[in-house]
Amino acid sequence: MNVYIETYGCQMNVNDSEVVLSILEKAGYRSCGTLDQADLILINTCSVRDNAEQRVLGRLDVFRQEKKRRGGVVVGVLGCMAQRMKEKLLDNPAVDFVAGPDAYRDVPRLVAAVAVEGKQINTLLSHEETYADVTPVRMDREGVSAFISIMRGCNNVCSYCIVPFVRGAERSRDPQSIVREAAGLIAAGYKEINLLGQNVDSYDWRDPEDPARRVTFADLLERVAELNPRVRVRFATSHPKDIGDAVLFAMARHANICRHIHFPVQSGSDVMLEKMRRKYTRAHYLQQVARIREILPDCAITTDVIAGFSGETDADHADTMSLFRAVRYDSAFMFQYSERPGTLASRHYPDDVPLAVKTARLNEIIALQNEISLEINRECVGRTYEVLIEGPSKRSAAELMGRTSQNKTCVFPAEGHKAGEYVTVRVLSCTSATLRCEIVG
Ligand code: SAH
Ligand code: SF4
Ligand code: F3S
Repeated sequence: MNVYIETYGCQMNVNDSEVVLSILEKAGYRSCGTLDQADLILINTCSVRDNAEQRVLGRLDVFRQEKKRRGGVVVGVLGCMAQRMKEKLLDNPAVDFVAGPDAYRDVPRLVAAVAVEGKQINTLLSHEETYADVTPVRMDREGVSAFISIMRGCNNVCSYCIVPFVRGAERSRDPQSIVREAAGLIAAGYKEINLLGQNVDSYDWRDPEDPARRVTFADLLERVAELNPRVRVRFATSHPKDIGDAVLFAMARHANICRHIHFPVQSGSDVMLEKMRRKYTRAHYLQQVARIREILPDCAITTDVIAGFSGETDADHADTMSLFRAVRYDSAFMFQYSERPGTLASRHYPDDVPLAVKTARLNEIIALQNEISLEINRECVGRTYEVLIEGPSKRSAAELMGRTSQNKTCVFPAEGHKAGEYVTVRVLSCTSATLRCEIVG
């Protein structure tokens, strides 16, 4: 039986797809790269914004055509949209089964049951499931960079966000299983490990036999970094209300912990931050940024921001613009607010900023950030950086792509080098997104 899986959403979803493939391979499935060879088609979905869901619904139409063309194909919807929409998804003629993020061990049984009993669903959320014992089947073909989920779920209730509803309560995974998985990846030749959680700073593992024995995120980060100084460690996402000096000092002590902190601000306005229930103020956020710059002067900072949240005024928007100017992010993911059913905001705060205003504000933020990214990248021209090669560049097979510790994308002529090697490059020119380089060592 061949399984084909498509993944939408965040890095945690990518890692979850690898977990699902591992569970299915144990049950006798083989993963295949194309839709038309698949006996089982899976789509791992995201609910974070409406447009993410619309894309998935569009793909389900394509899968329905594929089922018409060939008999016996089973289609399953996994992930956050499965959890959010539950039975409603079963009404879609393309869909045979629905499995939420904590139900992946059940996927082989669900597939088998479809043949006997028809449509199936499992959207039970768990307080314990971390898939700690499942070794994910890695999807990075180059074998350079891998994801490890260190926790699941989220205990924050940012008022706009669907994640806590679809991913359940926060659980920290046993640190030993994390370190073991990282060591296994390093033994298999991986050169970069990405530790993932919705809020890594609230990672908190307690020994069930001795709850006084705790492992914090800073401890875990150091343990993974100490496995091998030539293997890079990255992590996301850091939360401005929870990040502490311990993490920054752990980074400072280990050159192989990459100099990059993804630090979502969401808004520069205290009124919006309060309504979003982010639990920090603009001043606190800026203090944390100053602390990062003080302890890690070469650290890149990136962010997420939402334009047009409920009640956002021109003055609130101006606060976001001025915060972007003050921080000077290396790059940012920028979104317009999308109301999500069931969230606190959908129940209490009207989605009242007109679409045209949301879009105009978003475009203003994007234009400003592009300018800042370009300015920061221009300062890199002439400098040299150590880059981990990840594979061929998107444009040309004669060129390679790699990233600096600061997570900047570099493109350079291959000159016989290959994925997984470290090279020193000099930056020759840049755009707001890419550094064009030459290898100098
Ligand atoms: N746990 C991470 C964010 C995960 S969701 C954190 O707290 O930073 C990724 C990003 O999607 C968020 O940072 C936010 O900017 C955006 N997002 C979440 N819900 C959204 C919504 N309803 N509309 C628009 N953007 C949203
Ligand atoms: Fe959503 Fe907030 Fe949790 Fe991030 S911290 S996943 S934005 S609820
Ligand atoms: Fe989307 Fe779920 Fe990730 S909603 S952003 S795939 S946790």
